[in-house]
Amino acid sequence: MAFEHQYHLLFFFLVLLPLSTVAQTYKNFSLGSFLIAQEDNNSFWASPSGDFAFGFQQIEKDGFLLAIWFNKIPERTIVWLANGENLAPTGSKIELTSDGWFLLNDPSGNKIWSAGSSGGGTSYAAMLDTGNFVLVGKDSQPLWQSFDQPSDTILPGQVLNQLSGIVSRYLETNYSRGRFQLVLSSDDGTLDLYTRDFPLDSLNSPYWTSQVVGSEFSLVFNQSGYIFLQAKNGSIIQIISSDAPSTHDFYQRAILEYDGVFRHYVYPKTNGSSTGTWQKAWSSVSFIPSNICMKITEQTGSGACGFNSYCTLDEGKSCYCPSGYSFIDPGDVMKGCKQDFDSQSCDESSLETDLFDFYEMENTDWPLSDYEHFEPVSEDWCRQVCLGDCFCAVAIYRNGNCWKKKLPLSNGRLDPTVGGKALIKTRKANSTKNSKGDTEGNNHSKLIVVGSVLLSSSVLLNLLLMVITFLVSYRFSNRNSKVSQINQSSQFMAGMYLKSFTYEELRNATNGFKEELGRGAFSIVYEGVLLGLNDNLIAVKKLNNMIKESEEEFRTEVSAISRTNHRNLVKLLGFCNEGEHRLLVYEFMSKGSLASFLFGTIRPSWYQRMQIALETARGLLYLHEECSTQIIHCDIKPQNVLLDESCTAKISDFGLAKLLKIDQIGTNTAIRGTKGYVAPEWFRNMPITVKVDVYSYGVLLLEIICCRRSFDVKAENENQMVLVDWAYDCFQDRKLNLLVRDDKEALDDMKRVEKYVMVVLWCVHEDPSMRPTMKKVLQMLEGSVDVPNPPFLPSSTSSL
Ligand SMILES: *[C@@H]1O[C@H](CO)[C@@H](O)[C@H](O)[C@H]1NC(C)=O
Ligand SMILES: *[C@@H]1O[C@H](CO)[C@@H](O)[C@H](O)[C@H]1NC(C)=O
Ligand SMILES: *[C@@H]1O[C@H](CO)[C@@H](O)[C@H](O)[C@H]1NC(C)=O
Ligand SMILES: *[C@@H]1O[C@H](CO)[C@@H](O)[C@H](O)[C@H]1NC(C)=O
Ligand SMILES: *[C@@H]1O[C@H](CO)[C@@H](O)[C@H](O)[C@H]1NC(C)=O
Ligand SMILES: *[C@@H]1O[C@H](CO)[C@@H](O)[C@H](O)[C@H]1NC(C)=O
Ligand SMILES: *[C@@H]1O[C@H](CO)[C@@H](O)[C@H](O)[C@H]1NC(C)=O
Ligand SMILES: *[C@@H]1O[C@H](CO)[C@@H](O)[C@H](O)[C@H]1NC(C)=O
Ligand SMILES: *[C@@H]1O[C@H](CO)[C@@H](O)[C@H](O)[C@H]1NC(C)=O
Ligand SMILES: *[C@@H]1O[C@H](CO)[C@@H](O)[C@H](O)[C@H]1NC(C)=O
Repeated sequence: MAFEHQYHLLFFFLVLLPLSTVAQTYKNFSLGSFLIAQEDNNSFWASPSGDFAFGFQQIEKDGFLLAIWFNKIPERTIVWLANGENLAPTGSKIELTSDGWFLLNDPSGNKIWSAGSSGGGTSYAAMLDTGNFVLVGKDSQPLWQSFDQPSDTILPGQVLNQLSGIVSRYLETNYSRGRFQLVLSSDDGTLDLYTRDFPLDSLNSPYWTSQVVGSEFSLVFNQSGYIFLQAKNGSIIQIISSDAPSTHDFYQRAILEYDGVFRHYVYPKTNGSSTGTWQKAWSSVSFIPSNICMKITEQTGSGACGFNSYCTLDEGKSCYCPSGYSFIDPGDVMKGCKQDFDSQSCDESSLETDLFDFYEMENTDWPLSDYEHFEPVSEDWCRQVCLGDCFCAVAIYRNGNCWKKKLPLSNGRLDPTVGGKALIKTRKANSTKNSKGDTEGNNHSKLIVVGSVLLSSSVLLNLLLMVITFLVSYRFSNRNSKVSQINQSSQFMAGMYLKSFTYEELRNATNGFKEELGRGAFSIVYEGVLLGLNDNLIAVKKLNNMIKESEEEFRTEVSAISRTNHRNLVKLLGFCNEGEHRLLVYEFMSKGSLASFLFGTIRPSWYQRMQIALETARGLLYLHEECSTQIIHCDIKPQNVLLDESCTAKISDFGLAKLLKIDQIGTNTAIRGTKGYVAPEWFRNMPITVKVDVYSYGVLLLEIICCRRSFDVKAENENQMVLVDWAYDCFQDRKLNLLVRDDKEALDDMKRVEKYVMVVLWCVHEDPSMRPTMKKVLQMLEGSVDVPNPPFLPSSTSSL
C-alpha cells in the first residue's frame, strides 16, 4: 500500500513540476548501467509508471534502434530515436560510462551515437513519466534531455524552442530522416512545414506557415493536450490543436509523419467509461495542413506524392498511379510511378497516333509540368494535338484551355476544387509488346526519339533512319518471336494492363481448383498462389452460366473492370478466356466477407462497422460516378463486400452484372419470396439504374448497424423478420434502441444510429427517383449535409 501511495504521489509531482527539476525522479540508472541490443531480449528501462521505456527496438534482422516508446500499448509507437540512419547491430551496447558519457557502441567498440559530456558531470540517468529521458548532473540539473533533441514526435509537456524542429521519418517503418521538416523559423518568426531536398538536409519550400509569432517564440504541447504557438511574452498567438480529450485518460503525441502531415494523435489508456467509444488505437484529433495534396506545389521536386503519381485525400493522404502507370516500388509510393507501356514513337513517318488513346480523369491535374498551352480550343482539338505529339504524356482540358504535359509529371492531385479533366495518353494494348523487362525495346525507342529530333529536317537522313529503324526492329522482332512463343499467354488487353492467364496456369496456381473460398449462383471462387508475383495469394473466380457468344462482351466488361482503381474495390489482376473457360483473378482478401464478419460469433466493434459502412459507400460512389464507364453493381450484399488484412472494406464482383445472367436475379429472389437486397424495380417492368444499388446499400447499411441479417425467420416475433420493416416501425415508435439492443457502443451513439437509420429509410424508398444518389448518401453519413425526415413507409411487402 505504502509503495503504491508513494508511486502516485511521485507521478503527480512529475507531471506538475517544471521540466528542469528532476530531483524527485523515482528510478535512477547509475553510472555504469548499460543495455545490450539482442534479439528476443526486450532490454529497456521503463519510466516509473511504465508508460514509457528507453532501450532498443529491433527494426530489421541485425538492426536496432535506440529509442523511447509507449510501453503499455501493443502497437509499436516510437517517440524518440537516436540512430535512424545508422542502425545498431546485435550486441551493441548503450552505457552510462563511469566518466559521465552516454555512449552507444557497436560490438567492436565503434561509436554509433553519444550524448552528455565528459568530465564526470553526469551523476545518473532517468526515464521520466513524461516520456523525457534525462542525464542529470551533480547539481540535479539536466545536462541532456531527449526533449531537447526531438526526432519526429513531440509529447505533452514538451516545448520546442526557436531554431529547433522535427524531421519526418522516411517511411512508416523506416526511421531514416525523410522528406519533410517542421521548423520554428527565426527569420520570419513563424512555424513552417517544409519539404526537404531529400536526401540532403537543406530545405526546399514551405507548404504551411503559421501566423507571425515574433522572435524567441516556442511551440508548446501542454499537459491539457493543447498545442499552440507562444510568443516570448507568454501570449498565445495561434492554437494548432485544441480538440483533444484529457491527457489523464489518453496517451497523446504529435508527429510530423512521413507523408508530410503533422498530426495530433490520442490513444485511450483504459477501456473505462471516460474514454467512451474511442477505438483502442491511435486516432488523429487534428492535423495540418488541412489538404496537403493541394498545398504542396513546387517548381522542382515531385509534390506531395512521387513523380507521375497523384495525391488525393481519403482518410489522410494517399498516392495513386494513373491508369497505364504502376508504382516503381509499391513499398515506397513516394518513389513515383513508371509507364507500363512503350512510349509513343516520335518518328514522323509513323507517329502511331492510331495506337494511342486517352484515359480520362475528372478533377485531376499536374500543375507546373506543362510545356505548351492553347486557348480557346475544344476538347477534341486538345486530344488531337496531344495525340499528334510524342512528347505529350497528358493533356489537361479545362474551360477552353488545353495544356500539354511532359514526363515526369509532378505535383499530381485529384481534388474536387481542381475542375476540368486530365487526358492521360496510354497505348492501346493490342499494339504493344509486353513492356516489362523489354530493355531492348526501350533502347530502340530511345534511339528513334534521339534520331528524329536531331535529323527530322533532312529527308535523306530520315530515309537513312528508316532503314536503320527497320533493321533494328527486324532484329528485335526476330529475337522476340522466340520469347513470345513461350509466353504466348502473357498478352495484354486493350486499354488495360491485366495479365492473361492460360487455364493450365490457373489450374496449377490453385492446385487443381482445390481450395474453395466461396460459391455463388454463377461462380466458384478458389484460393491460389501466384509464383513470381511475390508468391502472392490470389482468388480465382471461375464463371459458369456465361452468356454464349459473348467473347467480345467478355473483353469489354473485363476491360471496364480493369480500368477501375479505388481502395474500396477488390483489384482485378488478370483473367483467362480460353474456349469455354472464363476465369477472373483477383487479389486475395484475407479477412473474408463482410457476411461472416458481421454475422459471426463475435460482434465487430461499432467503430469498425461504421468504417466499413463508409468505405463500402465510397467504393459504390466510385463505381457510379467516378470511374470512366459507369458500373451498376446489381448485387450489393454482405457476401460481396470483402475485407483485407487491415479490415478495409472492398467491393467485389462489380462489373459482372452484364457478364452473368443477372437479369434473372429478380426471378430467383421472387421464388425465395423474401425481401432481400433487391430493389422493387427488378420485379416490375422498370429500367434498372444505379438506384438499385442504392436500395441494396440501404439494406446492407441496416445490417451493419444491427449486426443482423435483413431477413431472419428465427426472429423473436413476426414483425421483426424483415429488418427494413422492423427498423421502420422502431423509427416511427421512437424506439430505435431496440435495433441495437445489446450493443453498448451503439447505444452510446444513438444520434448516429438514428441518422443512419434515416439514411437507410431514404435508400429503400420504393420510387427509385426518390432515393438519394450514393454521393448524397455519403455526404449524409459523413455529416456534411443534413438528413431530411424520412418518407412514409418504404416499399415493403406490397412489392411482392
Ligand atoms: C539518484 O542518484 C543520485 C546519485 O547517484 C542520488 O544523489 C539521488 O538521490 C538519487 N535519487 C533517487 C530518487 O534515488
Ligand atoms: C538480456 O540482456 C541482459 C543485458 O542487457 C542480460 O543480463 C540478460 O541475461 C539477457 N537475457 C537473455 C534471456 O538473453
Ligand atoms: C530507409 O530508407 C533509406 C532511404 O531510401 C535507405 O537508405 C535505408 O536503407 C532504409 N532503411 C531501412 C532499414 O530499410
Ligand atoms: C493548456 O493550454 C490551454 C489553452 O491555452 C489552457 O486553457 C490550459 O489551461 C493549459 N493547460 C495547462 C496544464 O497549462
Ligand atoms: C506579446 O507579443 C505579441 C507579439 O509578439 C503581441 O502581439 C502581444 O500584444 C504581446 N502581449 C503583451 C501582453 O504584451
Ligand atoms: C480492455 O479490453 C481488452 C479487450 O478489448 C481486454 O483484453 C483488457 O483486459 C481490458 N482492460 C481493462 C483494464 O479492462
Ligand atoms: C487493336 O484492336 C482494335 C479493336 O479491338 C482494332 O480495331 C485494331 O485494329 C487492333 N490493332 C492492331 C494493331 O491489331
Ligand atoms: C539497353 O539499355 C540498357 C540500360 O537501359 C543496357 O543495359 C543494355 O545494354 C541496352 N541494350 C542494348 C542492346 O543497347
Ligand atoms: C515468360 O518467359 C520467361 C522467359 O522465357 C519466363 O521466365 C517466364 O516464366 C514466362 N512467363 C510465363 C507466365 O510463362
Ligand atoms: C506448375 O507449378 C510447378 C511448381 O509448383 C511448376 O514446376 C510447373 O512448371 C508448373 N506448370 C505449369 C504448366 O505452369
